[in-house]
Amino acid sequence: MTNPWDPDRYASDRFYHDLVMAADSVLDVGCGTGGMLRLARESGHAGRLTGIDPYVAALDRARRRTDVEWCVGTAADAAWDGVFELATMTSHAFQFLVGDAELRASLAAVRGSLLPGGRFAFETRHPQARAWLDWNPSRAEDLVDARRRPLRSWYEVESVAGDVVTFTGTTAERDGTVLRVDRTRLRFLSEPALDAYLVAAGFTVDARYGDWGGGPVTAASTEIVTVARRL
Ligand SMILES: C[S@@+](CC[C@H](N)C(=O)[O-])C[C@H]1O[C@@H](n2cnc3c(N)ncnc32)[C@H](O)[C@@H]1O
Repeated sequence: MTNPWDPDRYASDRFYHDLVMAADSVLDVGCGTGGMLRLARESGHAGRLTGIDPYVAALDRARRRTDVEWCVGTAADAAWDGVFELATMTSHAFQFLVGDAELRASLAAVRGSLLPGGRFAFETRHPQARAWLDWNPSRAEDLVDARRRPLRSWYEVESVAGDVVTFTGTTAERDGTVLRVDRTRLRFLSEPALDAYLVAAGFTVDARYGDWGGGPVTAASTEIVTVARRL
């Protein structure tokens, strides 16, 4: 679930890249393999860049770049004391915060890690677009792994319970031999529910977009893009 980072190709990556390059210090929560921060350093960012993610295998890849700080941990583990100008959660990492307690603890930790007035930018899929309807085996994709092995992968939804979607991601040989199955739960918060959590955690919403071009959230939006500010 970690994509190549390319601001010239993806409007979402451009959105975050511009924010990161304009901030003196950046904490990327759920950084995965760290593509965003690695590119920021490569592009000349001279300030503090820190990535945190609970997935050790992804961080091991991130660690190939040693001039960025990489930490193992969840959002709720972010224990910095008011040091970052910007925090990010990219590629829908925010939706991995499923339970109420985890969501609250994560927002509190991110807020605490930010300088007063610091900003937290992230996106979450708009529930009205019901993205999970496309997550089924009829949309299986052929791919080639790092060792050039031809593989096939697909998703399958197990349940939609309130705003929580549980699904599996399967990786198989092209002949259908299953190699691994990963189960994921993602939360699809509505705008009012999201804003209630943010306000309760001590944020105000500075900017809200429904797409990566800066348009408003409409009845057709597939994304809720938020730039919140620590009060
Ligand atoms: C879709 S990937 C996005 C990775 C990276 N941000 C990117 O844009 O390529 C979601 C990431 O969130 C991480 N994650 C899952 N639960 C998390 C949590 N509670 N706190 C922080 N990150 C989490 C996963 O390990 C994974 O690396």
